[in-house]
Amino acid sequence: MSRRRDRNFPPLAVAPSILAADLGRLAEEIARVEQAGADLLHVDVMDGHFVRNLTFGPVVVEAIRRATDLYLDVHLMLDNPADFFEPFAEAGADNITFHAEVTDEPAEFARRIHDLGCDAGITVNPDAPVDLLRPAMDDVEMVLIMSVCAGFGGQAFMPETLEKVRTVRPWLARGQRLEIDGGINPDTAPRAVAAGADILVAGTAVFGAPDATVAIRRLRAAGRPSPRAATDSLE
Ligand code: DX5
Ligand code: ZN
Repeated sequence: MSRRRDRNFPPLAVAPSILAADLGRLAEEIARVEQAGADLLHVDVMDGHFVRNLTFGPVVVEAIRRATDLYLDVHLMLDNPADFFEPFAEAGADNITFHAEVTDEPAEFARRIHDLGCDAGITVNPDAPVDLLRPAMDDVEMVLIMSVCAGFGGQAFMPETLEKVRTVRPWLARGQRLEIDGGINPDTAPRAVAAGADILVAGTAVFGAPDATVAIRRLRAAGRPSPRAATDSLE
């Protein structure tokens, strides 16, 4: 069973998404971003049905678990995520996030994730209403706003999703975290943070950068308002 790691991330946390890593050298890539200052690791699980792509199963999460002590944030893009809560918990996930679009009982899903010893997260795609998140709002540790359509890394940030971040922020209590995922880079991160996001998932912007330490530092700088960030947030 998973040993739940503390969610004591800094006020603005950076979560590299291993989808953009060189997967032939996964353990080295994880060590590289860990040394570069990653606060947690984001793992994108896709089933070929909910999204038109296939990625990692529990065996890969198990291998990642052996390679790092970082908090593992597992994002399930699955039609039937509940079938896989237990395998991913046993593989060493610390958080399990499911899509609200696939269930009428999100609070029950969160309870089942908690019973397995993990934190629970809920998310929606850009085309799904943010109200789908509401029924589980008191039952999750993380809310994830998708800022691209789930399925692939390297897509362009959708600025219209910032409205969802602004809507959800006041729904959250102290300790609950608000992630944003997709197209996050040093240009888009300040807008996401100004809207209320406090965990930045970034694949391409971290693994694709020549220097991951610099890349993570630049993302973290989004938490320190600059005149430019303030202007951007006005859109
Ligand atoms: C998309 C995934 C994202 C993706 C982000 O379905 O949920 O986590 O890895 O990749 P970038 O940062 O490259 O947009
Ligand atoms: Zn993701």
